Amino acid sequence: MKGIILSGGSGTRLRPLTAMTSKQLLPVYNRPMIYYPLNTLLKAGIKDILIIIAPEHAGNYLNLLGSGKEFDARFTYEIQDEPKGLAEAFIIGESFLDNENVTMILGDNIFADDFSEEIKNFEKGGRVFAKKVPDPERFGVVEFDNDMKAVSIVEKPKNPKSNYAIPGLYIFDGRVSEFAKSVEPSARGEIEITEIQQKYLDRGELDVRTFENEWIDAGTFESLHEASILVKNKLDEKMII
Ligand code: TTP
Repeated sequence: MKGIILSGGSGTRLRPLTAMTSKQLLPVYNRPMIYYPLNTLLKAGIKDILIIIAPEHAGNYLNLLGSGKEFDARFTYEIQDEPKGLAEAFIIGESFLDNENVTMILGDNIFADDFSEEIKNFEKGGRVFAKKVPDPERFGVVEFDNDMKAVSIVEKPKNPKSNYAIPGLYIFDGRVSEFAKSVEPSARGEIEITEIQQKYLDRGELDVRTFENEWIDAGTFESLHEASILVKNKLDEKMII
């Protein structure tokens, strides 16, 4: 299992903080934000990690994270020239992945849960997670049938068919780069990761697992603040880095 941390983007909602550095390097309580998704991967035993970053702040990432030796891991870096969508990570990362299974996590997603078992026992297909939220229209939304089997996945729907959002933690097998290359940009000009999930779903190979503990997408002032509180009260003591 390889790992990707997608840590590019423009962070416009956090301006002016993101005028001087990358969103995912901003402090969340006592660590840079990216430490939390990195912790999720390291805890699951993933040692070979590709960090995808935007060109503007690349130097800061090298200064902070370096080779990975300090974390007993190996870090590789790639630049995403423009934020063309989450699924572009699998195209940028194609040679790094070399057809192996991958867990990708977004650099601004913070989870209270430990997903080590779900990552370690993954074999093939795709596996994503779903959590009930009050504002599903901000996320990829999964619709379930009566047996809680996923039937559709839609990116930022105006009229969501459920309250279940899919957070930024995705496990896919080696086909993911080929699938990503066949996705056309959406109306907002992005290569959407929901399209990749749909491809696995169409083949009956997408495993969607619900979870209940905290998940924070720390991309707004409100959620950035909440994230610091979550870390202080609950996560800090569970961190391995
Ligand atoms: P977003 O929060 O949707 O986008 P953003 O970080 O550019 O912020 P804003 O909307 O405030 O301008 O992105 C979610 C995560 O994915 C975040 O960690 C940035 C990352 N990302 C990329 O690395 N590349 C991309 O092409 C996109 C769309 C997002």
